[in-house]
Amino acid sequence: MTSLLLLPGDGIGPEVTAQSRRILDALALPGLSVSEAPFGGASIDAHGVPLTAETEAAALASTAVLMGAVGGPKWADVAYDRRPEAGLLRLRAAMNVFANLRPARCFAALAPASTLKPEVIEGLDILFVRELVGGVYFGVPRGIETLANGERRGFNTQSYTTSEIRRVATTAFELARVRSGRVCSVEKANVMESGVLWREEVTRLRDERFPDIELSHMYADNCAMQLVKAPRQFDIILTDNLFGDLLSDLAAMSTGSLGMLPSAALGEAGRPGLYEPIHGSAPDIAGQGIANPCASVLSLAMALRYSLGAAEVADRVEAAVEAALDAGARTRDLGGALTTAGMGDAILSKLAG
Ligand code: IPM
Ligand code: MG
Repeated sequence: MTSLLLLPGDGIGPEVTAQSRRILDALALPGLSVSEAPFGGASIDAHGVPLTAETEAAALASTAVLMGAVGGPKWADVAYDRRPEAGLLRLRAAMNVFANLRPARCFAALAPASTLKPEVIEGLDILFVRELVGGVYFGVPRGIETLANGERRGFNTQSYTTSEIRRVATTAFELARVRSGRVCSVEKANVMESGVLWREEVTRLRDERFPDIELSHMYADNCAMQLVKAPRQFDIILTDNLFGDLLSDLAAMSTGSLGMLPSAALGEAGRPGLYEPIHGSAPDIAGQGIANPCASVLSLAMALRYSLGAAEVADRVEAAVEAALDAGARTRDLGGALTTAGMGDAILSKLAG
């Protein structure tokens, strides 16, 4: 038996997750049970906290978790540590999903939708491996304090240990072996000690265990520039939590739409993975039924591949999305007029055919 927990969450999360659920129903995978739990703002409304103990326990007990999105203006004034985003960070930490895989792939049919020239973006296929449970997102001390002179000071701590770096780098090197064999590691070793350590540990791990991998290093600011100038030079980009957040948004948008890109957050082997679209809750279009469900459906495909032991089914789902796009199916963000359910229909028809 395997189990998939759906956390639809907020904004467009429930709408796009509903399409993944339709795909799941159509696939009718034997031995897979699917359930849902409240999360994020929806959980604040129902239970006063973004992540209840029940939802956390259900996530830890499942084989995989598929999340929609969290957050929105409705909860902007909620205490900082009770905001929807805090629930997501807590879930990531509880699941210990330290390696966040964020593919930035340009579907051929969508190259013209990019703000970059087609000849720069066509065929783009980058895989970000973002460290997800450490760094400045979680480092202590952190806080806002009032100084003796009455000024206020806000502070966070960027910190990485040897083991935190090595485990995520191991994931990147292992994935490189089934891709191009190249990894570009990104930090700011020119100004940050945590970056110096990052570079040293990644290099040492490569030398010890992955001599077959071609490893390069790049400063994060240069990486941002190169991602716009010549993005196809990259295959796997290995980076920390904060730089990975920024750079993956940059690359995602250049593929044509944030609405297309999935992600997988993985922990120790055999532990549940957390899968989520990269797009946020998009409160401006929530509830209108016009959001693009592709990122959710592709996140489901990643769950099938990395947690549910169904790589062939994952291939079919990904092929169905691509075939729907090739046939001209487009939601608004892609310049078309299909509704969320209409896009779901288009993918389902390709899955069947
Ligand atoms: C992401 C998001 C989150 C992050 C937010 C919602 C906490 O931007 O997954 O990229 O910063 O990690
Ligand atoms: Mg982000």
